[in-house]
Amino acid sequence: MSALPACPNHNMSPNADSAPCAPFPARDISDLLARHNRLWSERRQCWCASAPPPWWARGLVISPELRGRYESYLPAGEYLASIARLAEAFLPDASWLPSVLQNLTSHSGAPAALPYASIADYWATLPDGLAGKLCLSADELLPLFCALADPPRYGTITGRYPEQLAELDALFRHWPTQTPLRILDIGCGVGLNTLEIATRAVTLATQAKLSVTGITAERLEVWMAGARRLPHDPQREKTLRAFPRELPVIFAHARAEDFARPGQFDIAICNGLAGGRFLHQHAQISAFLDRCAKALTHAGRLFLANRFHDGHHKQLDALAVIARDKGWNCTGSPHNLCLQAPL
Ligand SMILES: C[S@@+](CC[C@H](N)C(=O)[O-])C[C@H]1O[C@@H](n2cnc3c(N)ncnc32)[C@H](O)[C@@H]1O
Repeated sequence: MSALPACPNHNMSPNADSAPCAPFPARDISDLLARHNRLWSERRQCWCASAPPPWWARGLVISPELRGRYESYLPAGEYLASIARLAEAFLPDASWLPSVLQNLTSHSGAPAALPYASIADYWATLPDGLAGKLCLSADELLPLFCALADPPRYGTITGRYPEQLAELDALFRHWPTQTPLRILDIGCGVGLNTLEIATRAVTLATQAKLSVTGITAERLEVWMAGARRLPHDPQREKTLRAFPRELPVIFAHARAEDFARPGQFDIAICNGLAGGRFLHQHAQISAFLDRCAKALTHAGRLFLANRFHDGHHKQLDALAVIARDKGWNCTGSPHNLCLQAPL
C-alpha cells in the first residue's frame, strides 16, 4: 500500500485547506501535445471531407455502421494510445495511468485489448466539454485523466447505501468510550462515501479514538480524494469539499485482493466492488476475504453494500458461500451484507 506522494514543493498535507499541491504535469508535454493535436486535426479534416455527418453528440445512436465509419477514420486504438502517451508524460509515472489507458502503448508490439469499441463509445463515457473532442488544450488533460479514472458508471457519491449507514450509525452510537475505532474503506474511489462514514463516526462515536483509511486501485482517485479535487466534475467536487477538513481520514493506493495490512481495523467496508465487475472470480474473492480477516480485529466486521443489477446475483450468492466456507458469519441481503470475521 502506498500513500499519496509527498508534495515536492512544500509541506502541505493532502487534506490541507489551501490549494492542493498537484504533482502535474510531471514533465513538459508541449511538444507531445502539439504532435497529438496536429495529427488528430488532420484526421478530423479527413473525416469531414470524406464521411457524411453526423459528428458525435450526446444521445447519438451508435449503429454498427456508424461505429465502423468512426473506426475507419478515427481508430480508437490509435487515439487512445496517443492519449496514453500524453498521460505517461503528464502523470508522475506509468502506475498513475487510469486503468483504461494501461497497456495501450504496448512496447512489446502485441496488440492491446481495447476498452472501447470505437471513439464514439469512448466519448459517451466522458463529461460534456471533453466528449466529442479529438484535440485537447493543456488545461483539459487533468480533467480528462480524472474522468477516465473516475467514470460516471462508478457512481461514487454520498447517500447510496442508507441501510448500511443505519447499521453503522447504531455501532458508532454504542462504541465504547476511549476505545479505538479504526475503519478501513476498500475500493473507496474518490472518497465521498468514506468521508460520509467518517463524518457520522465523528458525530456519533464522540468519545472514540477514530481513524479512517480509504484504499483504492486508481492512483488518480487517491489524489482526488486526498486533495478534495474532481477537476472533471465541479458539482461533485463541491460535495467533496464540503466535508470537514479535520476528519481523521487518509487515502492510499492498494488493491482489495492483496493489500498489505495497513494496521488493525475494527470495521472494514467495501461498497460497490466485491461481487461486481472488478472483483468476482473465486480466487479474487477468496484472497480479498483472507486479507480482510487478517486486517480485522477479533470481533471485527466487514460491511459489503452494492447497487449491482440483478445479473450479479449469482456472483453475490457465490461470495456469501465462499465467506461461510471460510468461517465468516454472514447476515443481511446480497445488496447489504454484514460479515463477522472467523474466530
Ligand atoms: C463502483 S466504485 C465504488 C466506489 C465507492 N466504494 C462507492 O461505493 O461509492 C468501485 C471502486 O473500486 C475501485 N477498484 C476497482 N478494482 C479494485 C481493486 N481490485 N481493489 C481496490 N479497489 C478497486 C475502483 O477504482 C472504484 O473506485
